[in-house]
Amino acid sequence: MFTTFTAGDAGNWQILRMAPVTGDGLAPASHLAVAPAAALPAASAASWPLVGVASHVRYVERAEKTALVAVQAGLSRPDATLAALIPIRKSAAWWELTQEERRRIFEDKSQHIAASMKYLPAIARQLYHSRDLGQPFDFLTWFEFAPAHAQTFEDLVGMLRATEEWSYVEREVDVRVRRT
Ligand code: HEM
Repeated sequence: MFTTFTAGDAGNWQILRMAPVTGDGLAPASHLAVAPAAALPAASAASWPLVGVASHVRYVERAEKTALVAVQAGLSRPDATLAALIPIRKSAAWWELTQEERRRIFEDKSQHIAASMKYLPAIARQLYHSRDLGQPFDFLTWFEFAPAHAQTFEDLVGMLRATEEWSYVEREVDVRVRRT
């Protein structure tokens, strides 16, 4: 099952702002439609359709999985009216590393999981993989939170962008939306 993020003039999320963080941005649009799709969508007139697939974990270890499952919140909480779509592409240097080398950077050095855990359950998250679908980004990251936690989310992204892991990010766009 694919998930499509289609920017255009209609959708279940209103785009509040979007900005390139690293590399090229995305064309402006007023709305974002997030929807499941049984098949890869055909090219459309939409401003930009991005497609990803929720997949199995690559780096998480058992103890981390247990800890995450114990505290994480699901998507679509009624009070989580704000969301962020952050598409990310990592560099060739990242993809040339082995799984072990990537885990070392991702967690041992950058503490992506250990340092992000404290933002749960305020921030609900879903990672979609795009790289093997021939998409312009490797990952579509999606986060939902209540307006009261908007600053908490800024702290989280600021913390992650300062990690060694992020030195391998060659394209990142930050799209902020509000449920319509
Ligand atoms: C809410 C707090 C967060 C938690 C608990 C969290 C946790 C995780 C975990 C457990 C994984 C690994 C999945 C796997 O094993 O394959 C992961 C991957 C990832 N996360 Fe986060 N994350 C958080 C916030 C963020 C934020 C804010 C961003 C973007 C700004 C982000 C971007 C990514 C990316 C791009 C990956 C894929 C990395 C790769 O496979 O190379 N995460 N995250």
